[in-house]
Amino acid sequence: MQRGNITKYTPFQPIPLPDRQWPSKTITQAPVWASVDLRDGNQALAIPMNIEEKIELFELLVGIGFKEIEVGFPSASDTEFNFIRRLVDEGRIPEDVTLQVLVQAREHLIRRTFESLQGVPQAIVHLYNSTSPVQRRVTFNKSKEAIKAIAVEGTRLVKSLVATLPDTRIRFEYSPESFSDTEVDYALEICEAVMAEWQPSESDPIILNLPATVEVATPNIHADQIEWFCRHLKERSKAIISLHTHNDRGTGIAATELGLLAGADRVEGTLFGNGERTGNLDLMTVALNLYTQGVDPRLDFSNLNAIRSVYERVTRMTVHDRHPYAGDLVFTAFSGSHQDAIKKGMDARAKNSGDTGRWEVPYLAIDPEDIGRDYEAIIRINSQSGKGGVAYILQHDFGLELPKALHPEVGMVVNAAADKGSRELTPDEVFAVFQKEYVNLSSPLELIAIEREDFSKRDEVKVEAEVRFNGETMKVAGTGNGPISAFVDALQAKGWKDFSLLDYRQHSIGGGSKTKAAAYIQIEKEGATSYFGCGIDASIEMAGLQALVSAFNRAHPAYAEPMP
Ligand code: KIV
Ligand code: ZN
Repeated sequence: MQRGNITKYTPFQPIPLPDRQWPSKTITQAPVWASVDLRDGNQALAIPMNIEEKIELFELLVGIGFKEIEVGFPSASDTEFNFIRRLVDEGRIPEDVTLQVLVQAREHLIRRTFESLQGVPQAIVHLYNSTSPVQRRVTFNKSKEAIKAIAVEGTRLVKSLVATLPDTRIRFEYSPESFSDTEVDYALEICEAVMAEWQPSESDPIILNLPATVEVATPNIHADQIEWFCRHLKERSKAIISLHTHNDRGTGIAATELGLLAGADRVEGTLFGNGERTGNLDLMTVALNLYTQGVDPRLDFSNLNAIRSVYERVTRMTVHDRHPYAGDLVFTAFSGSHQDAIKKGMDARAKNSGDTGRWEVPYLAIDPEDIGRDYEAIIRINSQSGKGGVAYILQHDFGLELPKALHPEVGMVVNAAADKGSRELTPDEVFAVFQKEYVNLSSPLELIAIEREDFSKRDEVKVEAEVRFNGETMKVAGTGNGPISAFVDALQAKGWKDFSLLDYRQHSIGGGSKTKAAAYIQIEKEGATSYFGCGIDASIEMAGLQALVSAFNRAHPAYAEPMP
């Protein structure tokens, strides 16, 4: 790399548009979408899709709701040609879907393209030639006039062939390829010349596609190019302005969004941004970005996992773990503070607004459920995780509503386990760690059997229990205003006087005949340290007693203390 004075690269010159309007606009409706997965996407694959795979992808695109689908470059190969024939012959083209076919502005290719369209109800013939200074000079060695003539002559030929397909409604799209790097006034001159040849009308407009074939500048420059073009185009109402941004600088999505602010009507791109080099525009991301701004994208991504799996299978590409909306990790929070905030957001949502309320969960731009993803994957537990994540898993996956005061220490216990294994814990492992540390502990003290007698007049309960301590069985008895306090009394009467009951709560888990009860007891030992224990049992009473025994055992670890 050069250092200091970089002379190898030329900065892109700004567009003269001091009164640009796009920065103060907002996008209020979805553009017309056109998928180029089967053409631009396919041509960028190491192993291009075979016809069966193309059919599967075509059907996926139709299912998502695309009405304009570029199905190939039929003059370029027999596979592309035959794919269109299969769609026609097998009646696979829905009435409201228009097939788009790409062709260079060359006579024999245009003629062959028309042959491929026999029997297609509606088609967009998409003609292109490259227009940038470097393409004119290096690739074609032609003048501006000669390049314009290629576009106009190609348009004339397309127009003359329309009559050969009387049963097909033909629309026309023209792309000044490499528009992003073409002088805007020259791109306008060519497009106006093409329009003059095609003679569009307001009811049958031309599509002028302005590709960022290579992304060469910041997205604001792209927006300026689009606004400049829209404002200077003579018969703007007779043209649909279309965007086609590649992603060389990693800002293809931003460029499209700003291009829409700048006045474009239509967007070409691919699912997950597959395409040449760094890819085409990712249609799914733009559509869901619109959705999260309250704009109906009119594309259905409510089962994104299924869409992704077909895409990955037929293209042999993979979606990155952190790909917006679709990546494996995008609904996962590893950081404790994020987990905590997400849990609070989810809890507030469950309490206040239900499913239809506004989405206000910190760190999550979209409700995963809207795109067929679930909450289970939201929080994963590793040594960086905090109390919120662990409590969320225990509540969401196992129905345990831990007392708030217990969250921090459970978080620490589970983190320590994750740290020890130097890996992420599954929800089952999180539960196992919690269980081992807190639930139904039976050593050194074990509750073997208990009998209670109620004296309702005195509001008193008497218990007699058989317990085992450090392997020795004994009887204990006590009284209280309930079985828990009576059992505490029984233990204290036996000599374990160093603890007192601080808190007790319980709830049911699940429903129907499998309902269980969970109880949490917090005791204080020697007026200083508190210990939690949890009991889970089919009977509420036993759950409470087991919680007490568990807390007692955590406060009096096995064999650490002598028998009283
Ligand atoms: O990227 C591009 O410029 C293209 C054109 C053929 C539209 O794919
Ligand atoms: Zn392209």
